[in-house]
Amino acid sequence: MNHELILTETRGRVGLITLNRPKALNALNDQVMDEISAALDAFEADEGIGAIVITGSDRAFAAGADIGAMADYSYMDAYKGDYITRNWERVKTCRKPIIAAVAGFALGGGCELAMTCDIIIAADSARFGQPEVKLGTLPGAGGTQRLPRAVGKAKAMDLCLTARFMDAAEAEKAGLVSRVVPADKLLEEALTAAETIASFSLPVVMMIKESVNRAFESSLGEGLLFERRVFHSSFALNDQKEGMAAFVEKRKPSFRHD
Ligand code: HXC
Repeated sequence: MNHELILTETRGRVGLITLNRPKALNALNDQVMDEISAALDAFEADEGIGAIVITGSDRAFAAGADIGAMADYSYMDAYKGDYITRNWERVKTCRKPIIAAVAGFALGGGCELAMTCDIIIAADSARFGQPEVKLGTLPGAGGTQRLPRAVGKAKAMDLCLTARFMDAAEAEKAGLVSRVVPADKLLEEALTAAETIASFSLPVVMMIKESVNRAFESSLGEGLLFERRVFHSSFALNDQKEGMAAFVEKRKPSFRHD
């Protein structure tokens, strides 16, 4: 696949997307998001891929939407073209798990991109923030919605209204990130986690992702009902038969992803 602003590669059953606009601290313009979207389409269609990692550079995961690109947009430009935000749903609708491996700045749209992924693994250098208020605007791709769900109202209001950054330790304590690792181990750690996920039954992994996400879209009763239905449906899978037989027979399961 030919991309200009991202790099893609396959590592075993893991698809890796690396944002590659170092001079602009990986600022996210529509081209970057188009390319991420196309990469996700390809990884999603590839039976050999079981999980995806999105990462940036040591200095920045992404310092936000591209301020220069959007500075002169009119309301009509932005609304009609769905500029800046048009491809973000693609990250959300990806059915395979996505890990954001975050080092350095994850600000504005960068923080929002990380939060749209399923797991955030942070380097100890990571800094998260929603500083749009300083630019005379507000988060536009989930900052006011996903952040409070992840860290609660108090911290979300604090970050969105004061524009202060949160370091990796605070982000882990607040529940935004699942683990903090030394910066030089970030990619290795994220790839290992992704390889672990990808070694499991792909349809089961997809069912788990769908079910956990359901928790954010429904009442507890509806969510539990959804989970129970999906749980029961897992008994239609060969991989469920294999996984449980392997346990009983005290051997490693060999999943066929069906
Ligand atoms: C375009 C950006 C950028 C951005 C940094 N750069 N962030 N370009 N859009 N969001 C560019 C700078 O212009 C500069 O280019 C180069 O990257 C290095 O940045 P510096 O500022 O020189 O580095 P430093 O002093 O280390 O400061 C780093 C920083 C700062 C704290 C991350 O760059 C910063 O505050 N950036 C903006 C963060 C932000 O406000 N993000 C939210 C954007 S709005 P040159 O050419 O001068 O070297 C948003 C809305 C989302 O995200 C809406 C939905 C998607």
